Amino acid sequence: MIDSAYAIRNYRPDDFNNLIRLNLEVGKLDLTGRCISPQVLSEYLGRPNYLPEQDLFIVEEAGKVIAYIDTTPELGIGRVVLDCLVHPEHRRKGLATELYRYAMRRATELGAHVFHVNIAQDNVAAKSLLHKLGFRFVRRFLDLSLQLSEARLPDVEHFTPLCHHLRPGEEDKLTMIQNRSFAGTWGFNPNTLQDINYRVNLSDCSHRDVILASRKGKAIGYCWTTANLADAAPPHLRKGRIYMLGVAPKYRGKGIGRLLLLAGLSHLKSKGVEVAELTVDSQSGAACSLYESVGFKVSSTTCWYEKALN
Ligand SMILES: CC(C)(COP(=O)(O)OP(=O)(O)OC[C@H]1O[C@@H](n2cnc3c(N)ncnc32)[C@H](O)[C@@H]1OP(=O)(O)O)[C@@H](O)C(=O)NCCC(=O)NCCS
Repeated sequence: MIDSAYAIRNYRPDDFNNLIRLNLEVGKLDLTGRCISPQVLSEYLGRPNYLPEQDLFIVEEAGKVIAYIDTTPELGIGRVVLDCLVHPEHRRKGLATELYRYAMRRATELGAHVFHVNIAQDNVAAKSLLHKLGFRFVRRFLDLSLQLSEARLPDVEHFTPLCHHLRPGEEDKLTMIQNRSFAGTWGFNPNTLQDINYRVNLSDCSHRDVILASRKGKAIGYCWTTANLADAAPPHLRKGRIYMLGVAPKYRGKGIGRLLLLAGLSHLKSKGVEVAELTVDSQSGAACSLYESVGFKVSSTTCWYEKALN
């Protein structure tokens, strides 16, 4: 049971600024630097197949949003991905445990059969909470980073004629190659054309940030980069991501993945990015050794936990 001063309810659009404030305050108090801009939050809430008024639950106390649980449905693989945050002044009062019950009801309503949660490896509180709720550890993911000034990258011309920047109208090719490259990969929910259109038009991305490798007009691989440099950050904070890198199964083992990765990194460097980051499943041996060979180093580790829903 939680204190009656707390009210748990569905998210409403007028909670928007309160959610921004909650993230900012938690970032300061937890010293994580966690913060979310209004633009990023509004893009997050506007994702296809996600309904904030039904998939996001908040805890209100004295007119302030002090906690939430977010349930992202990825029903193509029967899962719901959870994200929970409680303001430090309101922790250890049973709020996450209570919010989890709301998430459970929502996931059951959606017909999902598993919950997944990703947490930092050193997050003791979350580990203990998940253990108590009956979750089990399933996967370790690695966050890697590379100082681009230290990487030897070929000139962009080196990548033609195999590679070109994604052109408007080629989103179907990107959808197809992404789904082919990641089919059956743990945690990959196949994308629709609508998902891809949405993602490629977000504020950290444009068509030019996706490099496609093609053969006889058919996409055989791609490197999708993202970067948000609008705030003219100081050089060491000019970060970009290798968001996705994939090669169709038939074309693997021929150096196309390496070529695409180098093309993506050269593209990020040409935009003024200083540090390239990416996340990889520690069990993806081929991807890990490719990134290591280019000079990427592990910067942090996260763990995925799961719980089956009966
Ligand atoms: C993890 C988090 C959501 C827990 O929220 P909470 O409302 O404090 O959790 P509850 O009060 O429901 O606690 C449930 C259990 O979690 C564990 N737990 C919570 N805080 C803990 C801490 N500081 N140290 C160790 N275990 C802790 C305990 O097992 C606790 O049960 P107990 O109080 O009977 O010992 C909160 O600390 C938080 O917002 N952290 C930052 C965001 C985050 O890590 N999100 C990932 C969530 S999976």
